[in-house]
Amino acid sequence: MKHLTLDFTIETFRSLLDKSSSLIIDKYRTISDQKGYHDVSQHEIEKWFDEPIPQEGISTETLFKIVEEKIFDTATGNIGPHMYAYVMSGGNQISIIADKLASAINQNVAKWHLAPALTEIDKRVIQWAGEMTGFGKNVGGFIGSSGSAANLDGLTVARNIFFERENIRQKGLFGMKPFTVYCSDQAHNSIDKSVQLLGIGSDNLRKIKSKKDYTIDIELLKEQIDKDINAGYMPFCLVGNAGTVNTGAIDDLKELSNIAKLHNMWFHIDGCYGGLATILNSKVHLYKGLEFADSLALDFHKWLYQPFEVGCLLVKDWKYMNKTYFQKASYLDKSLEKQDGRLEFNEHHFLLSRNAKSLKVWMTLKAFGLTRIKEMIQKDIDLTRYLNQKINDSIDFEVVADSPLAISCFRFKGNITNKQDIIDLNKRLIPALEKDGRVFITGTTIKGEFVLRACFINHRKNKETTDYLLQVIREVGQTLI
Ligand SMILES: Cc1ncc(COP(=O)(O)O)c(C=O)c1O
Repeated sequence: MKHLTLDFTIETFRSLLDKSSSLIIDKYRTISDQKGYHDVSQHEIEKWFDEPIPQEGISTETLFKIVEEKIFDTATGNIGPHMYAYVMSGGNQISIIADKLASAINQNVAKWHLAPALTEIDKRVIQWAGEMTGFGKNVGGFIGSSGSAANLDGLTVARNIFFERENIRQKGLFGMKPFTVYCSDQAHNSIDKSVQLLGIGSDNLRKIKSKKDYTIDIELLKEQIDKDINAGYMPFCLVGNAGTVNTGAIDDLKELSNIAKLHNMWFHIDGCYGGLATILNSKVHLYKGLEFADSLALDFHKWLYQPFEVGCLLVKDWKYMNKTYFQKASYLDKSLEKQDGRLEFNEHHFLLSRNAKSLKVWMTLKAFGLTRIKEMIQKDIDLTRYLNQKINDSIDFEVVADSPLAISCFRFKGNITNKQDIIDLNKRLIPALEKDGRVFITGTTIKGEFVLRACFINHRKNKETTDYLLQVIREVGQTLI
């Protein structure tokens, strides 16, 4: 009988790998000239892929050509220096290789014996993250897909551990009196989504007004908690920001930890954007109190320069993960296995099958060392200061919100003086810049007003590329006045 397999011959496989490497090399050879965005219509791109399910395969040559022309050549410039939108780090080259290697051995970090080395690497990366951020040594946690997932994981653990005595895993939330969650009005929307998913409901999420510096107003928070207690609610969880997505604001974490302690609440910190800047000597003082959190959400595809996707939740002890998620299943039974202290991730999270996301993080830290990473984060922050200085020195731009980290909120004003006209101009700039494509920048609304928002989180940026951002905005902006 003919041997049926999907494998190529070893020679063909090698030549395909070489071809894929060539595609990658071509992309990186021209990386500094890469456009921020390619303005091809949605309709056009949809058409490229609108075809019936292939019943027979095409040649790998044709397939590579399609990948090159339709995917690589039109890819948004996330890896290049002209990306400023959202929180898009440029990745790093060791991690590209790591992802390829991890895929090649197809380890499943669900059970220790399905991925022995990679389970231990997951654990090691979690410990390193605890140490790097000052959250703690000997912590527990989970390497997941994203910051949003880490926030959901954090609030899930918070809910299940806090209400363990009510046996909510068995009984559900039925019949319980409402419990409340607190965060600032600058918190990321994954907190809202998590509260909705966990059956707590948005009505019980208290968004406390932020101050002028976009950090939570502690006095208003205290008032709200007292009000809720008097009204019969049970304050359950306080969420602090270690770097908001809009402006990078860092809440007074020490004060928040005191409030959480006073009211016996779970203290969760969203450090997805800014949490890793704790490793900088220049910034560590801003994070006092982080060590008192019960859970910390981090995102390595942000300031650890990882390609998507890899996030991380930290908690103070593995037992919190286990008590939240453990569910027996006969086919996962490990009683016949050699034990030796194996940690089973499927017993410490909702997910069962999962890829080895931590390999790229581990290889990055091994290859570059924390010192190099620190230099890159500091460079992002310094370049943001440089941009703001350039704007302050100009007559046609204005800084609207500064950041302790690496986000600048600003506007192009040209020669316009009326504030509403300036805001309208900046709103019109967004689609115009997308069409132009040389740089990719988006906006946000802070204190009810629209601004352009530039996030520096890419080790390939420098002063010239920063000057270029203002030059392109100025050129496109002038055409709109
Ligand atoms: C503060 C903060 N929290 C959470 C997230 C969500 O992260 P992700 O996009 O990885 O889900 C972000 C994303 O920008 C963020 O800035």
